Amino acid sequence: MADSKHIVLRHLDIGKPIIKLKDYEKRAGGYDGFKKAVKMEKSAVIDEVKASGLRGRGGAGFPAGVKWSFIPQNEPIKYVTVNADESETGTFKDRLIMEQNPHQLIEGALTCAYAIGAKAVYIYLRGEFWDVAHMLDERIEEARKAGYIGENILGSGFSCEVYTHLGAGAYICGEESALLNSLEGKLGQPRVRPPFPAQKGGGLYGEATVVNNVETLANVPWIMVNGADEYKKIGTEQSAGTKLYCVSGNIQKPGVYELPFDTTFRELLETVCGGPPEGRSFKALLPSGGSGPIVPLTDEVLDTRMSYEDCAAIDTIIGSASLIVMDDSVNIAWVASKVIKFFAHESCGKCTPCREGTYWLDKVLDRIMAGQATAKDIERIDDVAKNMAGITLCALGDFAANPIIHTIKHFKEDFLAMAEGKELAQAGD
Ligand SMILES: Cc1cc2nc3c(=O)[nH]c(=O)nc-3n(C[C@H](O)[C@H](O)[C@H](O)COP(=O)(O)O)c2cc1C
Repeated sequence: MADSKHIVLRHLDIGKPIIKLKDYEKRAGGYDGFKKAVKMEKSAVIDEVKASGLRGRGGAGFPAGVKWSFIPQNEPIKYVTVNADESETGTFKDRLIMEQNPHQLIEGALTCAYAIGAKAVYIYLRGEFWDVAHMLDERIEEARKAGYIGENILGSGFSCEVYTHLGAGAYICGEESALLNSLEGKLGQPRVRPPFPAQKGGGLYGEATVVNNVETLANVPWIMVNGADEYKKIGTEQSAGTKLYCVSGNIQKPGVYELPFDTTFRELLETVCGGPPEGRSFKALLPSGGSGPIVPLTDEVLDTRMSYEDCAAIDTIIGSASLIVMDDSVNIAWVASKVIKFFAHESCGKCTPCREGTYWLDKVLDRIMAGQATAKDIERIDDVAKNMAGITLCALGDFAANPIIHTIKHFKEDFLAMAEGKELAQAGD
């Protein structure tokens, strides 16, 4: 079993949440990384984050330092936006960071702002996190009084403000360009790209903007203090550091676990989480919430490391690492129908394949669930899903296609069992 390391959930080593600034400074080396950063050249901070191999924890795994380096240094106005929308099904890690170690996020975001020369950080939280936003406002005020936020921070000549902003609870507002629209007070729908947020014209109010997930930025203080080389020693070659794995579903000990990327599914699900409920066996896993491809929980999958590259090799993704576990009591067609209902509800309606595709997938799945379907209906939803994938304005269309394509690929018999047996015997007619 890989060593358990706490980079993000450092409060676990201390034994209690690190809420107040004085505790963060005294007990966790709080703001040491930021103090070091503001004495460095901006480009050197970006190079350090690049060298660490830190990848975005919001799902796509894009290298954070590379994203920061895309920001044009000579533009006068730039922004940092923290994605705290946490809308993926089965994801509940960012809230934990903000509630139990809030200054680490603020420090990471300020370090990013310094590196790219941004004068403002916006923390965009889903609407349901109003209590977290209120608490973060208090922590921001504390940091301002201590001189980490405001004018001429720590005498460095760098000035920056930090604001929280609440969304209204839409899944699509976790998608970075819809998030930026929502932050600007517009309808939360994705933008056509390019230009990308990091480019002039593509970010907040048309200015170059870094959008990073909460967990991504919460890694930055540790990297600044300990250095890129130490960070790279943790995890795998292409997935450096630790990951917060959210485990839910049919499992004895659900929760959030911070583990290095070279940990296997078996180590987490059997050793750490105690396996499936008494008398049950594992059947399937959604490693990245409802949006990633489902996998049967075979020995091969269980012995796979939970890294970006290892998961790609078994035809799935680790994404935001929201592991939803299903045991042998679960019919996977039922899972697909629940996930599709979610995506049909959350599709923003801007592009036709996603709007119409999710609607029809949901309708036909209702028929399958009611036992009024034929094998042709199973082929039909597979066909609709395959025609949606890759052609929608944002990745929500792919997310909605995944639960159909991969559940049918691995668990077709569950769909057949759900529909009416007699009609299904005529499959293919
Ligand atoms: C439909 C949809 C929903 C998303 N929801 C979230 C979310 O809740 N939180 C998040 O950090 N990223 C989410 N993302 C990914 C963001 O678009 C973006 O890739 C991420 O914020 C970039 O930060 P990172 O590089 O630090 O991961 C979502 C993407 C899509 C397509």
